[in-house]
Amino acid sequence: MKLDRRSLIAAGTLLAATARFPALAAPAQKLSSAQRNRIDTLLAAMTLDEKIGQMVQIAGGRQIALNSRLDEAALDKVRAGRVGSFLHVAGAQPLQALQRVAVEESRLGIPLLFAMDVVHGYRTIFPVPLAMAASFDPDVAHQAARIAAVEASVSGLHWTFAPMIDIARDARWGRVVEGAGEDPYLGARIAVAQIEGFQTADPANPDTVLACAKHMGAYGAAIGGRDYDSAELSERTLRETYLAPFHAASHAGVGTMMTAFNDLSGVPTTGNEALVRGILREEWDYQGLVVSDWNAIKELIAHGAAATPAQAAALALRASVDMDMTSNTYADHLAPAVAADPSLLPLVDEAVGRILAAKARLGLFDDPYRFGDAAREKTVLQSADHRAAARRAAERSIVLLRNEGATLPIRSGRTIALIGALADDANSTLGSWRARGNKDESITLRQALAERATVRFAPGVDTRSGDTAGIPAAVAAAEQADITIIALGEDYDYSGEARSRSDITLPGAQLALIEALRATGKPIVAVLMNGRPLALESALEGIPAVLETWFLGNESGHAIADVLMGRVSPAGRLPMGIPRNGGQLPLFYAHPPTGRPANPDLAVDSARYRDADIGPLFPFGHGLSYSRFDYSDLRAEGQGAKNHMVAVTVTNSGPVAADEVVQLYIRAPVPGLARPVRELRGFARITLAPGESRRVGFALSSDQFAYWDDGWKVAAGPVECMVGASSDDIRLTTAIAVPSAYDLAAGALAGAALATQVTLG
Ligand code: BGC
Repeated sequence: MKLDRRSLIAAGTLLAATARFPALAAPAQKLSSAQRNRIDTLLAAMTLDEKIGQMVQIAGGRQIALNSRLDEAALDKVRAGRVGSFLHVAGAQPLQALQRVAVEESRLGIPLLFAMDVVHGYRTIFPVPLAMAASFDPDVAHQAARIAAVEASVSGLHWTFAPMIDIARDARWGRVVEGAGEDPYLGARIAVAQIEGFQTADPANPDTVLACAKHMGAYGAAIGGRDYDSAELSERTLRETYLAPFHAASHAGVGTMMTAFNDLSGVPTTGNEALVRGILREEWDYQGLVVSDWNAIKELIAHGAAATPAQAAALALRASVDMDMTSNTYADHLAPAVAADPSLLPLVDEAVGRILAAKARLGLFDDPYRFGDAAREKTVLQSADHRAAARRAAERSIVLLRNEGATLPIRSGRTIALIGALADDANSTLGSWRARGNKDESITLRQALAERATVRFAPGVDTRSGDTAGIPAAVAAAEQADITIIALGEDYDYSGEARSRSDITLPGAQLALIEALRATGKPIVAVLMNGRPLALESALEGIPAVLETWFLGNESGHAIADVLMGRVSPAGRLPMGIPRNGGQLPLFYAHPPTGRPANPDLAVDSARYRDADIGPLFPFGHGLSYSRFDYSDLRAEGQGAKNHMVAVTVTNSGPVAADEVVQLYIRAPVPGLARPVRELRGFARITLAPGESRRVGFALSSDQFAYWDDGWKVAAGPVECMVGASSDDIRLTTAIAVPSAYDLAAGALAGAALATQVTLG
């Protein structure tokens, strides 16, 4: 019998509903009863093959060749109902044509989901995620995601594989560029801001895309910073640190999540029932769509967790991975697995129900073509507003690491030698995920600086080869200039997926270039460009001014030049400490105290390396300004058993209007445990005119002091509150008290996942 797909989809009541669709939790996951009926009706009408088809995502192209695999074979799969989603596709017109095949030529006419990695911009490219986290400004992350969603959705996309919210404490890992750094509190705030930017309050709103929190749950903890490698964590560290942003994301209603490639304490994540079905679904009540990472279901065999593809499919399904990204393991092996073990069938229904719910939430059953607008595509991509927002985000992401003798800003009228290939590397401004970004639409530092000053440019060396032939010309340029700016770092392709490095010092002959420039005796400003913190202690020795500029997107050059010349006072802060050398890794500020805390006196046996100074070169939260800020009058005011208010006055006592990032850290001791020396629990980026003061209030709940001990618990007693300008620049300290110990309910948001409300007086 040929079913009338339109009436099936529209009426939702033609067939008796047999499948139960679970109640949805977070607001963005709510469905109307009509939508629910429609899904139940469809499920009842689908064959097993059609159900499995919905669980299949195939590549419609490659990251660098979008749509290149949309051939007849792919279209035939769509017609046969053997595919539910495509990735690496884009464009209003081609996606509309593809959707038409699904809607008009397949038996049930279920619309497809179109996905892509729109990570820090679609066509207008924003700073890489690590840079945006350095803004310590969730509004910047929100706006970047909003604009990316506008551009992606007019181009026909429904779904982005972003944000990546993996905590990263080892800069050797190439993917640190994609996340928000080492801290779960900052990570959770940036994650939620991005999710809300991509999805808005309701993914059915115009100009939205579904977000995807990835890679659930401890991908960033890969041993040795080697991409894809195992994570070996205590449950306490897993819960308090690595899962905190995921719990916050789940609570914020993120539409989808992606499982990690790696294993967690011996259990590959994509088949990890305790983690994904247990914690994510059952404890947190997450009802969104879970997709595997690329080929990861098949890779359960390489992990050794499954002997056959059918076993791999069953493992992933039991873990509640709904959609198979590209491995075709569900497509080819799930049906036999179900035949052999009928207890899998309800799990298939559940998974398909969640996939159809994602489509319903986007409004695709009402109008499968509501995304993608070829006319708007022409005006919206790279619009002036989007460029302006990208420029503001880039300005706010720059971190001034060092500024001895007020070397910066550069006084006007000075002749500048601009050295280093990265200063004119438009391609690197785009970072590692560039979606449809175009390097010709990026402004390099060389271009922007030339508009503002007399500049002699000489690349000197590139970042890859050992070729030093360009050094004499660079030295000659420096000798003829008043000041030298040297762009140092790694090009875009040194960081990102599968880009882990054992040695994170400067690649190529850049050290030789620095040596030669030092010998000129001219003042030097180092402008770092990189996707990860580099180990630069010796390279930066004697260099009075250092700016960390990451990869800042299309407006990179304008933003850096404006900071160098003083039009903008920098106020970014490090979302990850910068090590002195790679041997210190992993390294993070929120470590537990040891019985023998690091001691500068080498005669004392203590927790440190003998051949390196203690701690990072630049700590988490560090960043300077062209102004100065004083902190005064820190007070803690109890507001009941669980609520606390901590307020501080911050004054701009310097010469220029500037932003300060006020940071609140806690130390919450627990009898019997070694708790972190400090943990970020609040921050506020504020703008102050010279002489201006503001009172900054942080409203905390005791739940934010929770620790994991086979459940979330809060200890009674004092909690130290430290306020300052970085994790290593605490200006004032006070204490609040938790009157009595208590346990939190299972699944409750706790610790770093919870947001502190900030008030500005
Ligand atoms: C990455 C994911 C990405 C996916 C699709 C994988 O290799 O790990 O982060 O979303 O590819 O491009």
